[in-house]
Amino acid sequence: MKKKLITLLSLSLITANMAFAEYAFVDSSDFTGDAFFTPPALEEKQEEAKKANDFGRTPTLPPIKKLRIKIKKALKERDARKYELAPTAEQEDVYAAGAETSEYASKDLVDDFDETGYQIKHINIVKDADCFIIVPATANIIAKVAHGLADDVLSSAFLAATCPKIIAPAMNVHMYENTATQKNLDICKSYHIKIVEPEIGELACGYQGRGHLSDIEDLLDAIEYATSPHPLAGKHVLITAGPTQEPLDPVRFISNHSSGKMGYALAKVARQLGAHVTLISGPSSQRAPYEVDVIKIQSAQGMFKQVLSYFDFQDYVIMSAAVGDYRPLEYSNQKIKKKADEFYLKLGKNEDILSYIGKHKTKQTICGFAMETENVIENAQNKFFKKNCDLLVVNDLFEDGAGFKTDTNKVALITKNFVDYL
Ligand code: CTP
Repeated sequence: MKKKLITLLSLSLITANMAFAEYAFVDSSDFTGDAFFTPPALEEKQEEAKKANDFGRTPTLPPIKKLRIKIKKALKERDARKYELAPTAEQEDVYAAGAETSEYASKDLVDDFDETGYQIKHINIVKDADCFIIVPATANIIAKVAHGLADDVLSSAFLAATCPKIIAPAMNVHMYENTATQKNLDICKSYHIKIVEPEIGELACGYQGRGHLSDIEDLLDAIEYATSPHPLAGKHVLITAGPTQEPLDPVRFISNHSSGKMGYALAKVARQLGAHVTLISGPSSQRAPYEVDVIKIQSAQGMFKQVLSYFDFQDYVIMSAAVGDYRPLEYSNQKIKKKADEFYLKLGKNEDILSYIGKHKTKQTICGFAMETENVIENAQNKFFKKNCDLLVVNDLFEDGAGFKTDTNKVALITKNFVDYL
């Protein structure tokens, strides 16, 4: 398989901007008066950094080199056979090193334009790239991209690239929220550049707010999406995941061991294949997959209500949630106190969501799930027909590598005419 070539050139060039900004900021503390406001949290960090003789760099700012190593490692871990960084990204340390000193901080260290012949760097490094990601992207480079400026290696290479492009902004919250930056991002989007929105968090400048570089997993998902085919583009996929909790009183509920891993993994893959994915999830600690609409519910009744409201316009529905079959018929508003030695609960049957949608389907292809402990295939086949599924995935709870909370699974696929063991 041919590896995808990812251009990560931006990291080191952006270092130049950042190092300059930090250095200037530290210098500004020499001024007296109110002209330069330094947030207290930052002052403390600068003090720490000065003690460490580190040019006053903010320790919380992830050093760009470290970030690059982290992304490379994560890309490899995700699929080493699929991705490789453009070789140029390896050579960019020269920029990062130069940016450490104020003398060079504001300059491009390599003159890209005095090269002769056909080896022009900003053209060469992108000609075979499958994806170009700018991470972290400053307000400055976003503005350059939006307006087609090409006055350094990064902006020139980005303009020259014809592969899918991604921008992952990271900056001060006010710079990010500034109308100018937002308009520039809108322009970038209109050029089909994917924006991986920053998160809310503690920023390198000491402020709190939106501007924190997004999670690395989201960056990788964006890269994977940009470099994959999208056979499900335009399709709607609805997936249920996790357990339901059937509340008894404000502190107790009836539930099961489902972790949600299966449904969340399916949602991620469906999105990577290009579908618009809605994930209706019971309580789960799984991370929301990138660009998937996650709707959180607690009880089976809540899940039923949500499934119904999305069902009509779905093309595929995958019911991987472990829905509670029964719920306490009475809910106590106050904590139930222990009294007698024996305690009886009256339970009522929940709606079987899969059966309901199986009965009412129009254009939808429906996939059910089943977990069995005995007569696995026979029970699953009965469920397949009873619930009017198009496909049913069954796993045996007692098989090694299958069941709740595992990262692996062993399943059989049941359709009308065959059983396929995976
Ligand atoms: N399911 C559902 N609504 C319910 C119960 C189950 O939609 N109230 C769905 C599950 O999401 C799954 C399939 O039905 O896709 C089979 O679930 P399972 O718990 O294995 O089957 P049950 O019908 O509950 O049968 P049993 O518990 O008796 O095995």
